[in-house]
Amino acid sequence: EVIDASGQILLPGFIDLHTHLREPGREDTETIETGSAAAALGGYTAVFAMANTSPVADSVVITDHVWRRGQEVGLVDVYPVGAVTVGLEGKQLAEMGTMAAGVGAVRMFSDDGMCVYDPLIMRRALEYSNSLGVLIAQHAEEPRLTKGAVAHEGPNAARLGLAGWPRAAEESIVARDALLARDAGARVHICHASTAGTVELLKWAKAQGISITAEVTPHHLLLDDSRLETYDAVNRVNPPLRESSDVAALRQALAEGVIDCVATDHAPHAEQDKCCEFAAARPGMLGLETALSIIVETMVKTGLLDWRGVAQVMSENPARIVGLDDQGRPIAVGEPANLVLIDPDTEWTVEAKELASIAHNTPYQSMTLPAKVTTTFLRGKVTARDGKVVAG
Ligand code: DOR
Ligand code: ZN
Ligand code: ZN
Repeated sequence: EVIDASGQILLPGFIDLHTHLREPGREDTETIETGSAAAALGGYTAVFAMANTSPVADSVVITDHVWRRGQEVGLVDVYPVGAVTVGLEGKQLAEMGTMAAGVGAVRMFSDDGMCVYDPLIMRRALEYSNSLGVLIAQHAEEPRLTKGAVAHEGPNAARLGLAGWPRAAEESIVARDALLARDAGARVHICHASTAGTVELLKWAKAQGISITAEVTPHHLLLDDSRLETYDAVNRVNPPLRESSDVAALRQALAEGVIDCVATDHAPHAEQDKCCEFAAARPGMLGLETALSIIVETMVKTGLLDWRGVAQVMSENPARIVGLDDQGRPIAVGEPANLVLIDPDTEWTVEAKELASIAHNTPYQSMTLPAKVTTTFLRGKVTARDGKVVAG
């Protein structure tokens, strides 16, 4: 078959270090199958499925299931993320070595919503990760500062009567874990950086030679807390949408390599968990199918990144961070490629009900966005084409 790619951009398949697929536990909002479809349509050939499933992915039984199910579906490589700690307590280290040795070969550990906030546990996790050669990813949300908080602590939240989530909740953990990583001689990855202060801390830590990397979400690069005006619960997310000055700092940091990559934090939620009062809604928004367009809008159209830069922040850097090649596999050459073809000149209008995810919580409903993935190839085989999934 000949594919006419004239006028299109060819990049390595995207790799998402931060995806919530809700299997096991909340298959009414997303499954490995529907999430894989969303990923393929978004140009992804590898996603890392976060550990805050139900039950938590704190054992090899679950991490192996996630990997196997992803391979069965066959649209994208679904790499399981293991939980650093057992259950929701965050008190006891999980058997990371067993998960790393399973068929799921867990290479990244994190806790999402039950993150590693005990400094002693974090210190031990970093030391352990070092000897296993795996990566610890930290959500950086100090729970004693985020308790009850639903929106960025600032003038907008104050005016709207929404409990504030301070920047220090994030920055204090980024600073702490940079220092813990330094002392352990280990690597640490910061999930969804959201503040200008985090950018400054990352600059500082990198300048010290600390092995720290960071991701930013598309929504934190586009949206700010002026969106809260309508109290629409679709805008509730952790960490919260910040101020326009933070958005500007995050864009600049991604352009300069202070922030290494884009990760979606794709977080499907049921209608009934999003239709309620802002403060009662679950945090999180869809991201896989819109990520590329948001990056084009915020980074390419603004002249901050060229297409070479897009390949770096969407494929090459995430691959390097988790020790895959930019084809999303353990370093190997001469194999069929993971690729994505993009029409850079088109526009499309987001319609939540047309997305492949079961849940519909996109903050971009009815927005017209630039650029679209036209074809995704996993190991040389088409997985998505012109907005439709192509089953193996
Ligand atoms: O808003 C969020 N929702 N942020 C996260 O990191 C977790 C996610 C979820 O699981 O819903
Ligand atoms: Zn998180
Ligand atoms: Zn998350």
